[in-house]
Amino acid sequence: MGEDHRMNSPAHHSSPLINAVIVAAGKGERMGTLLPKPFLALAGVPLLIHTVRNLLRSPLITKLVIVVAAEREVFLQDLLERYGPFSVPIGLVHGGRERQDSVRLGLAALDPACEVVVIHDAARPFIAAEIVDRSVAAAVEVGGALVAIPVKDTLKQVDEDNTVLATVPRQSLWLAQTPQTFRVQLIREAHARAVSEGIIATDDAALLERIGAQVKVVRGDPLNFKITTPDDLRLAEAILLKGLGARC
Ligand code: CTP
Ligand code: MG
Repeated sequence: MGEDHRMNSPAHHSSPLINAVIVAAGKGERMGTLLPKPFLALAGVPLLIHTVRNLLRSPLITKLVIVVAAEREVFLQDLLERYGPFSVPIGLVHGGRERQDSVRLGLAALDPACEVVVIHDAARPFIAAEIVDRSVAAAVEVGGALVAIPVKDTLKQVDEDNTVLATVPRQSLWLAQTPQTFRVQLIREAHARAVSEGIIATDDAALLERIGAQVKVVRGDPLNFKITTPDDLRLAEAILLKGLGARC
């Protein structure tokens, strides 16, 4: 009887299956370390482990795919065993040359029934579950969503000599972060089109924009910055030591 009720409930149809992809296959050239960023220690724990733990605080995600460089797969498997178990199954796939290639390869490894995918950079460890959930809600509604923060500083356009040409109005400008969340069918189509047209974009939302699909901005958090340089790593350590990254 309980089962009949569930089958007839509209809520049963309105909760899509959601997976996440973390891209961790970059070389970390701007960090300049031999070991790529996801494996660098942050307060004694690998950066990628912080990211996995924080992303999986969202109860919506039922599977995680981590995209990793082929030569780091065994190392990552060891780390996942050491720091696990985690709340959902984790699949590993090998990355590609550009971030976009790594995302596309990750998308091929989703649960076959997955309807919505949350794509996140390994290099953003301080992601909050509420923000993940907001991005999912927006993607379910319009097809695509990216987390971003409004530009706070005044923007100057300059020439090659650093002479100011103009002040750029900032009201409508946002800084893109991840997660970027999409209906699976849409993001797969956008990536397929990018391959066939030879397009490389710096984020996934740009590929949806190109095929004319709607993408919404969801307000993020400055704490969700991307660890790119040694300064960023020091800042992240300081945040963890001060307890500001309390979700870690
Ligand atoms: N990434 C990836 N595959 C690539 C390039 C990047 O999976 N071919 C991932 C990185 O591991 C990172 C995220 O995409 O988690 C964001 O990229 P970025 O911060 O640029 O990292 P890297 O490309 O590793 O760093 P750099 O650009 O300094 O080399
Ligand atoms: Mg890069």
